[in-house]
Amino acid sequence: MSSANFKQTLVTSALPYANGEIHLGHLAGAYLPADIYVRYLRLRGREVLYICGSDEYGVPITLTAEKLGISPKELVDRNYASIKKSFGGFGMSFDNFSQTSREIHSETAQAFFTDLHSQGVFKQKTTEQFYSSSQNRFLADRYIEGTCPKCSSEEARGDQCEKCGSTLDPTELINPRSVLDNSPLELRETTHWFLPLADWQEKLEDFLGRHPEWKDNVLRYCNGWFADGLRDRAMTRDLNWGVPVPLADHDGKVMFVWFEAPIGYISATREWAAQKGEPEAWKNWWQNPDTRLVHFIGKDNIFFHALLFPAILMAHSEDYILPDNVPANEFLNLEGQKLSTSRGFAVWLPEYLEKFSADPLRYTLARNSPETRDMNFTWEGFLARNNNELGNNFGNLINRVFTFIHKYFEGQVPEWSEEMMTDLDRDALKEVAADLEKWAGHLEKFEVKAALEACFHAGQVGNRYFDESAPFKSRKTDLERCGHSLGVIIQILRQLCLMLSPVVPFGMEKLWGWLGMESDLWAGGWEEGNQIIPSGRQLGKQEILFPRFEQEAIQVEIDRLQEMLGE
Ligand code: 2FM
Ligand code: ZN
Repeated sequence: MSSANFKQTLVTSALPYANGEIHLGHLAGAYLPADIYVRYLRLRGREVLYICGSDEYGVPITLTAEKLGISPKELVDRNYASIKKSFGGFGMSFDNFSQTSREIHSETAQAFFTDLHSQGVFKQKTTEQFYSSSQNRFLADRYIEGTCPKCSSEEARGDQCEKCGSTLDPTELINPRSVLDNSPLELRETTHWFLPLADWQEKLEDFLGRHPEWKDNVLRYCNGWFADGLRDRAMTRDLNWGVPVPLADHDGKVMFVWFEAPIGYISATREWAAQKGEPEAWKNWWQNPDTRLVHFIGKDNIFFHALLFPAILMAHSEDYILPDNVPANEFLNLEGQKLSTSRGFAVWLPEYLEKFSADPLRYTLARNSPETRDMNFTWEGFLARNNNELGNNFGNLINRVFTFIHKYFEGQVPEWSEEMMTDLDRDALKEVAADLEKWAGHLEKFEVKAALEACFHAGQVGNRYFDESAPFKSRKTDLERCGHSLGVIIQILRQLCLMLSPVVPFGMEKLWGWLGMESDLWAGGWEEGNQIIPSGRQLGKQEILFPRFEQEAIQVEIDRLQEMLGE
């Protein structure tokens, strides 16, 4: 449902694993689209809370920490700080960015587990799993290696064989051994708590049935899982890095990451509330039917957000709201290839930010947003989007208009009036107003790419109007006409500023200031942004908003990726 029909919107972006840096694939999937949406809502003056944090438990984290010889906590704290910094540089405007290794999260997740357990929701089952006597612990699938029963590769992992691509169960491996010390493993019995998802299937089908407006990709995946039939899923693990299972006599068991990580959205909201001195305020979001909950994720997270987490929320004895939408994005490829973090074939955000500013990347990724299918990022494309679109279509127009007004009208919006309006003026204003309306309609539906097309079109209209009304000519023949045309263009720039602001916020905050706007752009700037800028207003002094990039600047990046592919 449109954001206007709800009192408030709670937006989340998937909690990134604190196991490495953020790359372009992450940004295009779960972060940039969410930030654009949140900024759009703030611009419209809607009440919105934007929550995220890092996902800090699970096997990959312990593996990395063990390799580096540091504790998992040290590793996640380091990565958290770095992720938070690069998100800040990229302009992510979270209201809270928390960590799942914090106390408030363990408390929240444990309270959830206890609630479900005491209602008898979980099924307890005992199964056989691999145990390392040398390390005194059960090993998760990824800690186990052995010979593949299908292709005899000696390096098959407990969950899959990279060589032949088979999905495996660790018990199928021949000569299973521990990744950590190569010691042989034995099967031992262990007990776990399972969520019988089949019991929730009907309710989940009803729930999704009430959301025919969700994206096709999300509904398609879910219907596929429904057709297969949902199965029991273990919600606990034998590991020493995770949220402890809050049951007596079960030392050494922690929660499955996908049980507790989504609860992290709630913990981070509780932390936000506590920080502002209203510890109960989180309930006004999570337990309030006037809240619209929207989860932005990548397509690999659909099962967990559209089915597992809603089932957990439904199972809780208190009334939690369910997601109103889960706009999952497809993947972003890089130079025509799949991103591979293990091979280093990716563009990492901190490295990007050392060389370039955030806006051009935000703009390029938004223009190539993988909304309905996988999209491709190329450095050449990035250069073209920056130079031809941000630079030429928008930046030059803004710069020309401001330069002109400063040079010939002392920086004040010239006299322009209804009486002087020609068809040319009216048509241009009408077209841009229609684009603005289309733009808003698309963003309401999370259609970033289509919204930007409308915005780009408005830029073209502005340029065409500038060329056709030709103030550079009328200046010499009819100064009044010249001033009038510039007054009209200032109105177009005001609307362009609204449309571009969620995508290139750094540049548009400046333009907003140069236009002499008084309200906070991110607290309902829409209202002032839809009012006429009157003649006589003093404008600020502009600077170049979107400098051009030269080929050399991106060639280094292209070469680095090519080298990686050649290896
Ligand atoms: O896929 C991922 O990056 C996960 N860390 C997302 C977790 S989302 C949420 F449920 F915590
Ligand atoms: Zn194999």
